[in-house]
Amino acid sequence: MIVVRTIADVRRAVREARARGATVGLVPTMGAFHAGHLSLMRAARMQTGFVIVSLFVNPAQFNDPTDLAAYPRDEARDAAMAAAEGVDVLFAPTADAIYPAGFATAVMVALLNEPLCGAFRGPEHFQGVATVVTKLFNIVTPDVAFFGQKDAQQAVIVRRLVRDLDLPVRVEVCPTVRESDGLAMSSRNVRLGTQERVRALALQYGLQVATAAIENGARDGTRIAELARTAMHDRGVEAEYVELVSAEHLRPMTPLAGEILVAVAAHVGSVRLIDNVVIRVPPT
Ligand code: PAF
Repeated sequence: MIVVRTIADVRRAVREARARGATVGLVPTMGAFHAGHLSLMRAARMQTGFVIVSLFVNPAQFNDPTDLAAYPRDEARDAAMAAAEGVDVLFAPTADAIYPAGFATAVMVALLNEPLCGAFRGPEHFQGVATVVTKLFNIVTPDVAFFGQKDAQQAVIVRRLVRDLDLPVRVEVCPTVRESDGLAMSSRNVRLGTQERVRALALQYGLQVATAAIENGARDGTRIAELARTAMHDRGVEAEYVELVSAEHLRPMTPLAGEILVAVAAHVGSVRLIDNVVIRVPPT
């Protein structure tokens, strides 16, 4: 595996791989790798001939400077993990390479950036994500790009921007990877204290309560969200949001029908966690 920092170098690597007839896979990341990232790299390795992992902690998607400062960074560890997965190139650009002086352009996927995390982190969060992902797609020109289902709203937004801007890339969304007790893998989990780590299971519990309610015939999204919120509260966690929305448009629907995204977010101590499940709800 080679580590490259400039746009020219990553483009050269892609050109050479394509000249050999390889398809190109991209796994965009902000580093701090865990099993979830590794599963994306494995999917990329299986499906494409040349795998590029980008590692860039994107300042444009952090609304809170303390969150940006606290974001875990260990490039040497990440590089070793990526190399062990057979990644070909780690693209770790500087902030100046991605946002040169005078950078003035933004990509905004309207409406989809407003609900769920957008309502709490601000629509600028997903504008930052959409802008950097569009740049990475233009820089790397991957045939396939790999994202995790844990960031469900991000995945919906990336799919929509690819469709709306006719970007020639296939977006592959891979299942959430969980710890053995069900906690969704996240780079933020390392910041949880021992007691917080136990309380963090409340998110998963809230999703289970919502799923059980739907399986038992409930179709009122507001009522089901209340049940989940109460279940989380009883386990010591106040939900920032619990929402049941259409998995494609992220809009609430009553009664629930079709592909429903049940999404939760909560602060456990100072750590903000998200999780979700997609449920196919048959029409009543
Ligand atoms: O999911 C992430 O790690 C980031 O949002 C992404 C897609 C790498 C963009 O910075």
